[in-house]
Amino acid sequence: MVKPTGEMPTDWGIGHYERTAEMLLPAADVLVRAAAVRSGERVIDVGCGTGNAALLAAARGADVTAVDPSPRLLAVSSARAEQDHVDVTCALGEAASIPAPDRAFDCVLSNFGVIFAADAHAAVKEMARVLALDGRVALTSWLPGGALEALAKAAQQLVRSAVGAPPAPPGFAWHDESALAALFLQHGMTTNLEGPHELTFTATSPEDYLDAEMKSHPMAVTGLEVLRQRGHAEQALEQLLEVLRSHNEDPKAFRSTSRYIVVLARRM
Ligand SMILES: C[S@@+](CC[C@H](N)C(=O)[O-])C[C@H]1O[C@@H](n2cnc3c(N)ncnc32)[C@H](O)[C@@H]1O
Repeated sequence: MVKPTGEMPTDWGIGHYERTAEMLLPAADVLVRAAAVRSGERVIDVGCGTGNAALLAAARGADVTAVDPSPRLLAVSSARAEQDHVDVTCALGEAASIPAPDRAFDCVLSNFGVIFAADAHAAVKEMARVLALDGRVALTSWLPGGALEALAKAAQQLVRSAVGAPPAPPGFAWHDESALAALFLQHGMTTNLEGPHELTFTATSPEDYLDAEMKSHPMAVTGLEVLRQRGHAEQALEQLLEVLRSHNEDPKAFRSTSRYIVVLARRM
């Protein structure tokens, strides 16, 4: 997944991210299990969204803080915690600026959150700062491939062309074993990768998937508005539909499999 323009950070409170969050919940469960979160541990969920990993950690009895740049999604996290009768402290912040003292957490979790940080180095430095000496970081990251990556890339390119921006520079390779090892090493940490795991996204047809995505996903809603303002929306939607059709794994409906890894990091 990539930002629609590459320059403007997405407001993840736009649209209805809750729909995507439900689809990412199984990965949050994989993440919390891989991190082996225990009762009484101090845990932070960075880029918590609607609180998927935070709530699962809290259900295990951890003392949980949830951080996100979107005030609306933090409010959703808070409401879900109340509904589930678990305590989660929600705080506005982002990966490169975590509102917490040094060494405050036994475990830093991030379910497809920190991978959106504009500066991967700053994000890992900050996660290392708030981590206890014997703590661990656990995060999920997409592997390349599948219809949804192709869709995000095509959408990004269409929006960039519409506003006259050059192709987006490549971001940090959160899926690449040696890039991850080198990045965490700079902050005194070693990494282990777990997986690959899979998430399957389905709909009755490619048209239905695209329609739901365009109405709900914050990046899609933001990008489509840019295309509409410039009169490119109709043609762009046709092209995006073709991307989904050509990658569809189910000829009778729509299915796309996305693969991801869990990155586990500890101090050396
Ligand atoms: C794909 S969503 C994942 C949300 C959640 N972890 C989940 O399991 O559904 C990405 C989340 O990262 C947040 N985010 C975007 N930029 C961020 C940054 N620089 N630091 C931390 N979180 C960020 C967004 O607000 C959004 O909630």
